[in-house]
Amino acid sequence: VDFQINLVGRKDLSAEIYRQLRAAIWDGRVRPGDRLPPSRQLAGRLSVARMTVTVAYERLASEGYLTSRVGAGTFVKPTLQAGRAGTGRIATAGPLRARRIWDGIESSLSDPPFARTPRFDFRSGLPDAALFPHRTWRRLISRQFQADVVGKGIYGEPSGHRGLREAIARHIVISRGVETSPDDLTVTTGTLQAIDIVSRLLLVPGDRVAVETPGYKPVNLLLSSSGMRVLGVPVDEEGLVVEKIPSGVRLVYVTPSHQYPLGVSMSLQRRLALVAWAENHDAAIIEDDYDSEFRFRDRPIEPIHALGPGGRVIYVSSFSKTMLPTLRIGFVVTPSSLRGAVRAAKFLADWHNPLATQAALAQFIDEGHFARHIRRMRATYGERHDLIGKLLVRDFARFLTPIRSIAGLHLTALSRGLSSEAIKDVVMAASNRGVEIQELSRFSVDGVTTPAGVVLGYGAIPTGRITEGMRILEQCFRTSHRPVLG
Ligand SMILES: Cc1ncc(COP(=O)(O)O)c(C=O)c1O
Repeated sequence: VDFQINLVGRKDLSAEIYRQLRAAIWDGRVRPGDRLPPSRQLAGRLSVARMTVTVAYERLASEGYLTSRVGAGTFVKPTLQAGRAGTGRIATAGPLRARRIWDGIESSLSDPPFARTPRFDFRSGLPDAALFPHRTWRRLISRQFQADVVGKGIYGEPSGHRGLREAIARHIVISRGVETSPDDLTVTTGTLQAIDIVSRLLLVPGDRVAVETPGYKPVNLLLSSSGMRVLGVPVDEEGLVVEKIPSGVRLVYVTPSHQYPLGVSMSLQRRLALVAWAENHDAAIIEDDYDSEFRFRDRPIEPIHALGPGGRVIYVSSFSKTMLPTLRIGFVVTPSSLRGAVRAAKFLADWHNPLATQAALAQFIDEGHFARHIRRMRATYGERHDLIGKLLVRDFARFLTPIRSIAGLHLTALSRGLSSEAIKDVVMAASNRGVEIQELSRFSVDGVTTPAGVVLGYGAIPTGRITEGMRILEQCFRTSHRPVLG
């Protein structure tokens, strides 16, 4: 094998040979099964004592990288699996395998877009990080890291920073009509953790759980991974079709204010029907109110949580859209009957969210920055929502029918004739030209067929880029090769 070792100016030559050879194995320049030069030969090449090389080889052998066969020489262990080039990691394959269910989950989540920043970013669910008040946030968060604030370094309260829970409780009663004591509000690292905690309190593996289809797939995958039987329930223009909830369901997960991804609001009648269904079936409702702070017109829709005192609705929300998803902060409001158990489950999950972020967010809310940021972003997102809506009607009428939606960070439009396969082609063609959108079919849950269509997010795309991105998208539709269905 051919590898370079450079000892110019180095001190501990043996350690240096060891380090450089190990790096060559890590990044794949020297591969499992490769034979290394005999120590005498390498020593000659490097002009060092043979012992210097022998010590390096022995160290690598003792750590499991090399193996020697008498008379044959020294080899990189054939069973060693080098990681991807440049990752600097060795992955040793072994007998351990994840349970079968993880094969499906892993492949469903192997969604590369997170790593990329497309030229025209219409992905759903992302806020505009460029308009985040970074300077204010930096000032508040850096204050939290000063010695007098950090304090003695003891652990915090699992339910969350008291001031933050009070600030959130004050905020959601005004903005969403959700009344709660801060004692029944738990700070989480986001929606998924909230749902994970609640499901572990209320369900056992094998229990039946209903989710919307199309819907927010990570929730379906999360519950499946814990052994629940997850069943998709269709959504129409009034939201989840309550009478289609299968029998035996113990918990329903819904996005009533702004269905993800269709964008419809659940009608009052349906919300009342869902509450009645939960009463009649001794079941629980998880209400995910993930983006309804951004409502552009009409009166805000009352959350299901506010509809009755039944104690069956768990209200989940997140700062991923209103602030930044990378902060990993959300919260869950639970009935007081679950207070102790939720606190214990959060403790067992990760003890508590980082305190500095919680304290900074409390201040951010208390000082009025949060309300100001939401007001500003609501105006911006409203403008983008209206622009995309207008372009869909003006330029895409042959291909798409937008679903009326007046809130949130995305718009969905149904195909007027192109099949799901044809839409996939269009999405791919657009992606190749730097326009990233999502096809509706990828939100299908539980194998239920979803109507063909597209989801257009406008959180991440600057307003000034929307028209150009939509123009390219329209060309992709126009040049689609698949025939329009009857
Ligand atoms: C329906 C729905 N709920 C919640 C979230 C946010 O999740 P988290 O709070 O874990 O960031 C998203 C993000 O895209 C979402 O689409």
